Amino acid sequence: MTQIILYQIPTSEIEFLLRQLQSPYYWNPAHPYLMRWEGHWTQTDLRVEADPLDRIAALTGEIVLEGLLEQGLSTRLCHQLINTFRANRSQTLYLVGERIHCPENLFPFVQVQDWPRPDSVALSQFLQARGLHSEALYRAVLGLYCGELANLLSRHAGLNEDRLAEAITHYKISKLQGRGITLVPQPDCRAVGMDILDSLLSEISDLLKPEAFAAGLPFPRGVILIGPPGTGKSLFAKNTAARLGLPLLCADWTGLISPLPGESEANLRALLHAAEVSAPCVLFWDDYDKAFASADLSRDTGIEKKLAGMLLTWLQERTASVYTIVTLNRINQIPPELRRRFDRTIFVDLPHEGARYEIFCTHLEKYCELPDWSDRDWKILISEYGECTPDEIGKAVYLAAVRSYRQGRPRHITVEDLLYQRKQFTPANIANPGQIQSIRNHSKFALKASSEDRSRWRVEPDPLFKTMLGR
Ligand SMILES: Nc1ncnc2c1ncn2[C@@H]1O[C@H](COP(=O)(O)OP(=O)(O)OP(=O)(O)O)[C@@H](O)[C@H]1O
Ligand SMILES: [Mg+2]
Repeated sequence: MTQIILYQIPTSEIEFLLRQLQSPYYWNPAHPYLMRWEGHWTQTDLRVEADPLDRIAALTGEIVLEGLLEQGLSTRLCHQLINTFRANRSQTLYLVGERIHCPENLFPFVQVQDWPRPDSVALSQFLQARGLHSEALYRAVLGLYCGELANLLSRHAGLNEDRLAEAITHYKISKLQGRGITLVPQPDCRAVGMDILDSLLSEISDLLKPEAFAAGLPFPRGVILIGPPGTGKSLFAKNTAARLGLPLLCADWTGLISPLPGESEANLRALLHAAEVSAPCVLFWDDYDKAFASADLSRDTGIEKKLAGMLLTWLQERTASVYTIVTLNRINQIPPELRRRFDRTIFVDLPHEGARYEIFCTHLEKYCELPDWSDRDWKILISEYGECTPDEIGKAVYLAAVRSYRQGRPRHITVEDLLYQRKQFTPANIANPGQIQSIRNHSKFALKASSEDRSRWRVEPDPLFKTMLGR
């Protein structure tokens, strides 16, 4: 009986397929003769060059043909396959290729199979068998095929495990370039003062371990970050990918939406496919409101509604380890059905005193050694920047560094420099107080990005205010 299998398989994995078969025959267009794999290659004397399907008619056993599907299945090839099936030979014929589109009329005669990706347990065994144990490396290889990984290991032989992990992450990211995805630049600093988000990161990291997979715990879906502009939502997304050692894919709205019919949907499909094949990864929808906010799913009929609907379905059904982060300013800018598809909605507010101190330190460290200012100076500074966003603090520190440099004091920022900068601008929260309050009101039920301030910079609420609150 002839069995015909159209096998969608990456080129790097074909050798693994051959090893699973019983002394298979093998051909690709670079070989004039049919080859045979019996733990090593031998060349048969069957010349197949022009028409491999006709030439192999008399053979029995397992036969792997590569390179016939590259141009799609031509009408002639389809008929040849149907004839082969009807000829009822003792053959199992594998037609292998990276991408296969099987025409409907061929389905009754062939099986279509996908080469499975190794799961996290298989990959960790693969590394252990080669004496590799680092956690960073383990995370970096997730989503790769074994053959691909074997090639990378031999290409980078001699690197230590941390450098190897970096090289592999770099490889995964470069594979995605040119697939309509924006690769986000490295974060300009660490996102500090968000302890709840930090614990979320360690939770995701734990869920990437093979033990979590073995315990049947599915990978988390993702998080929606809401909050006023400049509070660190995008920065957190960039930090997430960097700290987990995963590629960060950013949806590029301008590239996604096209005036040509059908193209926006195709772009979104390609983007989601790229995310799935690069899993585990972080898929980042920055400023989601700018693209989809107007998509009222119950009324709109435009392209935005279509795309938002496609995204909803994907978020519901995806099985790959893609951690999705959506950032936006107001929670009422997205429909409840989208919110439901995320594990958490987190509100990023203006930083409290302790967080402001950490933000100052992080930004100061970019330009100078951390100054040993007195607690009194720090308290004045933290209080003067009371209504500021982390973005405003970061910019003020930069301008203070510029000022000190131009005054002949490079790398020597003073408290006065920062107090001077504070007088040069009006924080957005003071210029437009209603806007941030309204964002807060809409976010009452969301989890906060930072817990209560327990630092030494914390300012106790006024006793009168406490009495009014009944505490
Ligand atoms: N938690 C933080 N720690 C240190 N720096 C921060 C933090 N949050 C923000 N910043 C600084 O502010 C800059 C802008 O932050 P980011 O782009 O993440 O804001 P956002 O919340 O995404 O704003 P928008 O709503 O306008 O997109 C960062 O590049 C960083 O320099
Ligand atoms: Mg942002």
